[in-house]
Amino acid sequence: MAPYEIRIVGDPVLRQRAEEITDIDGRLARLAEDMAATMYEAPGVGLAAPQVGVQKRLFVYDTGDGQGARTLINPEIREASGEWAFEEGCLSVPGLSWEILRPRDIHLVGLDLDGNEVSIEASEYEARVFQHELDHLDGVLLLERLDEDSRKAARRAVRELMLGRQEAAPAKAARGLSLH
Ligand code: NI
Repeated sequence: MAPYEIRIVGDPVLRQRAEEITDIDGRLARLAEDMAATMYEAPGVGLAAPQVGVQKRLFVYDTGDGQGARTLINPEIREASGEWAFEEGCLSVPGLSWEILRPRDIHLVGLDLDGNEVSIEASEYEARVFQHELDHLDGVLLLERLDEDSRKAARRAVRELMLGRQEAAPAKAARGLSLH
């Protein structure tokens, strides 16, 4: 069983800004390890700490490049450019996805679990995962990234999702759709 239950839209923890991490220690490493296990079981390609109810600026990810799960602490986007549309889903908004336009290329900085500075130039898919996870640390869900018109319909779909959750079987990721 996954160490954590993933928080679902409607949970206030998903709407709060997470706090900067000041101590990188064994407890944090354990948190990251448990988050990665939760992410793999979902399955997803990224998971931010608020999604497991922890208000810290940290996320784990594995974009399938063969390097396994990695952790980014206190991540910040230094530069963003271009535009890229991509069908985006979220583990905290199960069963729903939307095409969302975001910058295509980003320069991301942060710390790893050893406290070393990390600097990453990412594009397209990888950049998308980082931007989605960073949004979670700021209390932003993908609904806010939709334009006005799509947002109304999306809000309705999310309300139905929240109402139907008791009866409905948990929605599983469609094949090929990335969930964060
Ligand atoms: Ni998400």
